[in-house]
Amino acid sequence: SVIRLADYRPPAWTVERVDLAFDLGIDRTEVAATLELVRQADEPMRLNGEGLELLELSVDGRRLGEGEYILANGVLEIAVDGDRCTLATRVAIRPAENTALEGLYLSGSRDKGFLLTQCEAEGFRHITFFPDRPDVLSRYTVTLRADRARFPVLLAGGNPDGAGELGDGRHWARFVDPHPKPSYLFAVVAGRLERISHDYTTADGRAVALHIWAEADVIDRCGYAMDSLIRSMQWDERTYGRNYDLDVFHVVATHDFNMGAMENKGLNIFNAKYLLADPDSSTDDEYRHVEAVVAHEYFHNWSGNRVTCRDWFQLSLKEGLTVFREQSFSADMNSAPLKRIEDVALLRRAQFPEDAGPLSHPVRPSQYSEINNFYTATVYEKGSELVRMLAGHLGRDGFRKGMDLYFARHDGQAATIEDFLKALGDANDADLSPYLAWYGQAGTPRLTAEGRFDAAQRRYRLTLRQRTPATAGQPAKQAVPIPVRLSLFDHSGAALPLRLEGEDRAGDTERTVVLDGAEHAFVFEDIDAAPVPSLLRGFSAPVILECDYLPGELAILLRHDPDGFNRWEAGQQLAGLAYDDCRDGNVDGSALRAWTRALADLFAGGGVDDALLAELLTPPGEIELVERQAERDPERIRIARQAMLRALARRIGAEPLRERYEQLRAATSAALDAPSQAQRQLKRRLLDLLALVDPAGAAERALAQYGQAPGMTDRLAALATVATYASPSAEEPIAHFRRRYDGNALALDKWFAMQAMLPGAEALARVQALEGDPAFTLKNPNRVQSLLGSFARANPTGFHRADGAAYRWLADRLVAIDALNPQVAARIATAFNGWKRLEPVRREAAHAVVAGLAARTDLSRDLTDILARVALG
Ligand code: ARG
Ligand code: ZN
Repeated sequence: SVIRLADYRPPAWTVERVDLAFDLGIDRTEVAATLELVRQADEPMRLNGEGLELLELSVDGRRLGEGEYILANGVLEIAVDGDRCTLATRVAIRPAENTALEGLYLSGSRDKGFLLTQCEAEGFRHITFFPDRPDVLSRYTVTLRADRARFPVLLAGGNPDGAGELGDGRHWARFVDPHPKPSYLFAVVAGRLERISHDYTTADGRAVALHIWAEADVIDRCGYAMDSLIRSMQWDERTYGRNYDLDVFHVVATHDFNMGAMENKGLNIFNAKYLLADPDSSTDDEYRHVEAVVAHEYFHNWSGNRVTCRDWFQLSLKEGLTVFREQSFSADMNSAPLKRIEDVALLRRAQFPEDAGPLSHPVRPSQYSEINNFYTATVYEKGSELVRMLAGHLGRDGFRKGMDLYFARHDGQAATIEDFLKALGDANDADLSPYLAWYGQAGTPRLTAEGRFDAAQRRYRLTLRQRTPATAGQPAKQAVPIPVRLSLFDHSGAALPLRLEGEDRAGDTERTVVLDGAEHAFVFEDIDAAPVPSLLRGFSAPVILECDYLPGELAILLRHDPDGFNRWEAGQQLAGLAYDDCRDGNVDGSALRAWTRALADLFAGGGVDDALLAELLTPPGEIELVERQAERDPERIRIARQAMLRALARRIGAEPLRERYEQLRAATSAALDAPSQAQRQLKRRLLDLLALVDPAGAAERALAQYGQAPGMTDRLAALATVATYASPSAEEPIAHFRRRYDGNALALDKWFAMQAMLPGAEALARVQALEGDPAFTLKNPNRVQSLLGSFARANPTGFHRADGAAYRWLADRLVAIDALNPQVAARIATAFNGWKRLEPVRREAAHAVVAGLAARTDLSRDLTDILARVALG
C-alpha cells in the first residue's frame, strides 16, 4: 500500500500525556502504557501496534472485551464516546528475538549485552500501542524496572525523576521529559554500561550533566566524542543562539545499529562506528566522522526535536537542515574548502546516481510504501544543498534572522517545508517560494553555459540554460532557481572586476547571478579579451555543469584560482576530459596533457598545501566516471582511469614521488592536528601513484609503512596499497592485522571492507572466503555493510563480473539478510541501481537476477519496495 503526501490529514486523536512502565527482560519485556487522549475529529481512535502481545486493554478504567475493539493489520481501532479518554494497555514484547533492530532489542550477547530502542521512523509501534506519527506530540513519563545485577544502568530520555530498590534484587528509575515530543524520539537503554562525564554550562546558564555510555571494553575510546559534543554545543550557542534544554544529556554507543546514529530526546544512540575513536583503531576520516555525527545528532535537538516534522514526507525539513548545520560546523572546525570538496564528492558519488536512476525521488517525496527506504542521499545531502542555496540567497545575517524566526514560530510544533521557507522569507521580506520547486522535483538539473566575447563592444555574453531530464514517474520538469556564483579570469589567471550591463560601476571579482527561467543571458561590460569563466563557485547549486571548456582554460583555473574548492573543481572537470582521452585510447590527448602538466607543475612548485595537493591528485572515482560512458563496463572504466593516473605519475616522475614520500615519512607521527592528517593523506596518494610506475619500490615502502605505522591511518593505507598492487606480499600483513585486532569490531570491519574492495576477477572468491571467517555474521549490520556492502557498492570491477556470478551470489545473501533485518537488506539491494545502463552482457545477467528477486512474494516490504523500483530500470 502506498502512502501519499496529498492524502495527509491531521490526527483524529492526539496524546497529551504518556506514562510508560517497563518490566525489562531480555527474552520478555512487559510494557504498561497509560495515554491521555484528546479528540480532534469525529473519528474512531486508531493506534498503531505491531508484533505486540496484548495482555490488557482498558478505557477510562474499564477493561475492554473482545468485541469492543478491532485489532487488524497493525492497527488497534476503538470507538470511544466523548472528547477525552484515558487508555491503558499492557503488552509483552520479545527483545532477544528482534533481529530487525527496530523497537526494543538486544545489542550484543544474551549474557553480556544490553537492551536499547530505535524508533525512527516507525519503531515505537513495536513497543506499545500508540498513534505512531510525528505530528502527535506528547509529554512522556517513563519508569524502568529491572534486575539490578543484569541491568545496573537504566536510562530514558528526559530529566531523572527518582530511582530506588524494589526489594527482590530489582530496581527502578523514572524519567520525566518536560518537552512534548513525537514517539519516534522516545528511547530507553538498560544494561551494563560504563560512562564518562562532563559538567557543562550552557550560554544561558543551565548546568547540564553530559554522559557518554559504552561497554567497558570501549569506554576509553569515548573521549573524542565528548570533546566533539562540547564543541557542538558551544558552536550552536554561538552560531544560532541555540541552548540545550534538559539537565542531562546521554549518548550511548552500540555495535548493533541499522544506521549512523539517532537523535532521541536527551538520549542519543550511536552506531559505535560514529562514536568511538582512538589512534590505534581509527583512521583520520573516522575521527572527522565522529565529530560530524556527534554534532549532527546534537543539532537535531533544535532542528528536528524542538521543531519536528508534520509527516515523513517532510523528512528533509530536519535532515537536510541538520546536515547543512553539521557541514557548516565541520567547515568551521576544520578547513572549509576541504570540507566542501568532501561534501561535493559525496554528493556526486552517492546522490547523483540515485537521482539518475529508478530510485530517484524529490527531496520531498510525494509517496512511499516504506519510509525507511527514504533515508537517502537525496533527502540528506541534496536536502542540505537546498538549504545552502537558501542560506546563500539570504546571506549570513539574513539566514540567522530567518532561522531565529523559524525556531521561535514553530517551537513545539510539527512543521512543513513550506513553514520553513515562509519563516526564512518573512524574516527577510523575501519570497522564497520559487525554491519549493527544488523540493518537489527529482533529477539533477543540467546547467549549460555558453560564453561569447565581443571584442568590438568589449563585452562578454554568458548564456545560461537549464534542463532537468525526465525521472522515474516524473516526465515533465519545470525550471528551478539556480544561483550561479562566478568569476571571470583573464589568461594570465587574474580575476576581473565584474560589471553587468546596466550597472554603473564594477563591483567585486566574484558575484552570484540567478538563473530562474529556462534561459538567460548575462552581459558583462569592459572586458578586453575572451575571459575564462569560473562557474558555480563553491558548488553554488546541485547541478551538472555543461560547458565546452578547452582543456587549457580549465588548466588556467586549476593553476590560478585562489580558492581551494574551485581549484579542485576545475581539476575535476579537466580530469573528466583527460579520462575521455584515456578511454578513447588517445594517450597524447590535449586534455590528458593539460591535466598532467598542470598537476606536475603544482607538485614541483610546492605552493599548494599537502591536503589540497592530495585532493588535486585524486581524479573522480570509478563510480562517478560511469556517467561518462554510454555503455557501462566497469572493467574498461578502471583500465582507463588507471591509465590516466599512470600518465600523471609518469609526468611527475618516479624519483620526485619517492623523494616527497620519503620526506613525509620522516615526519610521520600519529598526531591528529590538521597538518599531520594532511601529511598522511598525501603520503597515501603518493604511494598509490608510485605503485603505477614503480610497483616494487611502492610495495617495499608500503610494507615498511605497515610495520612502522604509529596509527590506523598509515597502517590501513599501507595494507590496502600492498594488497592492491602486490597481493602475494599482502598475505602476511593481512593475517597479522587480523590477529592484532581480534575482538576489536570496528577495526575488523575495516579489515573486511579493505579486502572486499580489492578490484578484479578474484574479488568474489575472496569475499566468499571471508564469509567463512569466524568473525563474520549476517546478524550485525556493520559487518554486513563492511563485507557485502563494500563489495557490492564500492568494488565495481569485482561486483560487476561479466558472468553475473556476483549478482547471483548477492541475491542469495539478500534473501538471507532480509529474513533477519529488512532495513539492512533493502540498503544493500540498492547496489543493483543502474543495472539498465550496464553493457549488454552484464545488463542481461543483472536483469535476470533483479527480476527473479522482484518476482518473489516472501520478502519484506522494505526489500520488495527497492526491488520493485530497481527492476523498472
Ligand atoms: N534521524 C537519524 C539521523 O539522521 C537517522 C534515522 C534513520 N532511521 C531509519 N529508519 N533509517 O540522524
Ligand atoms: Zn539526522
